[in-house]
Amino acid sequence: MLLQAPERKAARRRLLPLGTVEALASKLGALEALATPHGVDRYLELVHPMLTVRELRAVVTDVQRGTADSITLTLRPTRQWKGFEAGQFVQLSVDIDGVRRTRCYSPACSQYRKDGHIELTIKAHPEGLVSQYLHAHAKPGLVLGLTQADGVFRLPARRPEKIVLISGGSGITPVMSMLRTLCDEGYRGDVVFLHYAFTEAHVAYLRELRDLAAAHDNVRLVLAYTEQEVGGDLHGLFHKKHLTAAAPWHAEAETFLCGPPGLMKAVSAHYVAHRLTDVLHTEDFAPAPVVPLDGAVTGAVSFARSDISAPNTGDTLLEQAEAAGLTPEHGCRMGICFSCTQIKTSGCTQNIRTGEINSDPDTELQLCINRPVGDVAINI
Ligand SMILES: Cc1cc2nc3c(=O)[nH]c(=O)nc-3n(C[C@H](O)[C@H](O)[C@H](O)COP(=O)(O)OP(=O)(O)OC[C@H]3O[C@@H](n4cnc5c(N)ncnc54)[C@H](O)[C@@H]3O)c2cc1C
Ligand code: FES
Repeated sequence: MLLQAPERKAARRRLLPLGTVEALASKLGALEALATPHGVDRYLELVHPMLTVRELRAVVTDVQRGTADSITLTLRPTRQWKGFEAGQFVQLSVDIDGVRRTRCYSPACSQYRKDGHIELTIKAHPEGLVSQYLHAHAKPGLVLGLTQADGVFRLPARRPEKIVLISGGSGITPVMSMLRTLCDEGYRGDVVFLHYAFTEAHVAYLRELRDLAAAHDNVRLVLAYTEQEVGGDLHGLFHKKHLTAAAPWHAEAETFLCGPPGLMKAVSAHYVAHRLTDVLHTEDFAPAPVVPLDGAVTGAVSFARSDISAPNTGDTLLEQAEAAGLTPEHGCRMGICFSCTQIKTSGCTQNIRTGEINSDPDTELQLCINRPVGDVAINI
């Protein structure tokens, strides 16, 4: 658990300069063995929350409000940060009312950013817990939990000759990172950046996108507005004519797509219809809908190592474990990070996103996206 704000304030009052304590942290690994069972980081965070031997964390160094519904955070990670490839995501954790909440965010900066800081642009979802919290409370000095970058949505190491980047709304972040990275590399192939927004005022990075397109004759910016009839290059929801107008050569290009479910579905349908799925790479920000329960909820879940058993409620194994008072490790709660993976020793489970049934004993499964079908035993 990260320190709460008052403890952090108290810790800061007795602080050495941050640069000094971070330099010290790299020399403190030897203390780890002496600091069991909590690990040396639990003690070091009493001195400063950014002073860690093992854990990766980040401090907010800047907060910008680019559009009315988005916030851009600049983060300085601790020295454990290994960098990222454009398009990948990190998991950010924040303590809200004493509970650590974790969500995935895709850095929007170039992977070559010189100061090693990470830039995240986060849309405020009207009902969203973490995004609303960060909108209301993020300010320089806030310390957040961070993971190393992950994900396969990234540019091939051997850059393709032509690239189409398609995004909608907050889905701009991973492709913005790709565009900035390609520009930093001096990439000379053709790039089309096709972005969908309600109106011009909703386009994050508008000025920089225009500047990049003006400065690079191989980069074409195409803005599509779904609720604004003047200005912009295209209007209305995605239509295959948009792609033909923006990148008539898209069949020969690699396409990277990230946006709201409607846009993802429409663009993917076009690539499927034209047998182009091999050149389409996608990143979903929102989880796939949950497959409804089929039939009655029966059986019991036993958490073997904890010697706890409870009637199956039909919820995910993570929710049922938490309801039973257990605190299994988890991150995204949407099947992406694999941090909730545990061994199912027996019984039958269903993946709530795909509907797939698994009845193999002694298999690893993600607690957050699997529900029991009848009696199930999990090794936690
Ligand atoms: C790989 C990956 C990368 C991501 N990168 C970014 C990013 O760069 N910028 C960014 O703003 N977000 C990004 N997200 C989405 C982000 O992880 C959170 O889902 C989002 O911030 C909402 O979290 P919340 O706690 O505010 O909402 P929650 O409290 O988790 O959810 C509140 C409500 O909003 C709905 N909801 C949650 N997420 C979404 C979504 N993405 N779209 C539509 N409805 C949603 C839920 O169904 C729920 O009804 C990314 C997600 C993934 C999986
Ligand atoms: S919590 Fe991330 S995969 Fe389950």
